[in-house]
Amino acid sequence: MYVILMGAQGSGKGTQAALIGPKLNLVKVATGDLFRAATEQKSELGLQVQAILESGNLVPDELTNAIVQVRLAQIAAAKAKGEDVAGALFDGFPRTEPQAQALDEILANQGESLTAVVEIDVPREKLVARLAGRRVCESCGTVYHVEADPPAVPGICNKCGGKLLQRKDDTPEAITRRLELYDDLTRPLLAYYAEQGVLERVDGDQDIQKVEQDLLDAIRSRAESMKA
Ligand code: AP5
Ligand code: MG
Repeated sequence: MYVILMGAQGSGKGTQAALIGPKLNLVKVATGDLFRAATEQKSELGLQVQAILESGNLVPDELTNAIVQVRLAQIAAAKAKGEDVAGALFDGFPRTEPQAQALDEILANQGESLTAVVEIDVPREKLVARLAGRRVCESCGTVYHVEADPPAVPGICNKCGGKLLQRKDDTPEAITRRLELYDDLTRPLLAYYAEQGVLERVDGDQDIQKVEQDLLDAIRSRAESMKA
């Protein structure tokens, strides 16, 4: 099963990927998380992409596609070994047409195809408030919101006790740039996937548990219809 979570910055892709990935046995492929981990480790890749991330611009397609290809090869190898892995859940990838085409090609070479692309739809005016109030655990990456999904103790992760931080690209300038890029380059992919007949839409302006349930229902019903 290969599923893409689409939606603007702040729509809840990361929040939902953490909830539904384990329930569907899908390995999360979150390019933003992979790039942030590389910058924290100060690896060669990290040094290359740090300034791009902080400004809210996109990492070049070739580099992004190469990283995804490696992750998908690891997932295919795990499946071949009989590990309990059903496929991948994409969060933040693809974001451009060349990335979408590359993904189609990688999956086709593995004899696989997309099960579902689900758009998490949230009104634009809510996105900025979500991003401004987001806090992320520096140790385990769990995402919170100071009002909508606060930790039990302010500034401390419920799961691991780690410190909660604000992302470096959650500044007003970078948020504006990221949303602009979504409209110009990523939103057009909705039509690309509608044409492939795999697009679903979920109302992301509901509480987190309701969005989760709607996503699970949409993905499971599409997986069932593919089996039939
Ligand atoms: P990435 O990490 O993917 O960031 P993004 O695209 O800016 O998306 P976000 O993580 O901000 O949004 P989200 O939908 O995950 O929201 P979240 O669940 O956290 O990418 C970062 C950067 O990496 C990019 O800018 C780019 O430079 C680079 N990059 C990554 N992928 C790339 C690619 N494919 N190509 C090129 N470059 C790439 O939720 C947000 C907040 O809302 C949280 O506080 C959460 O608690 C809250 N919230 C969630 N759901 C709800 C709800 N239902 N109700 C109320 N609040 C909610
Ligand atoms: Mg995210």
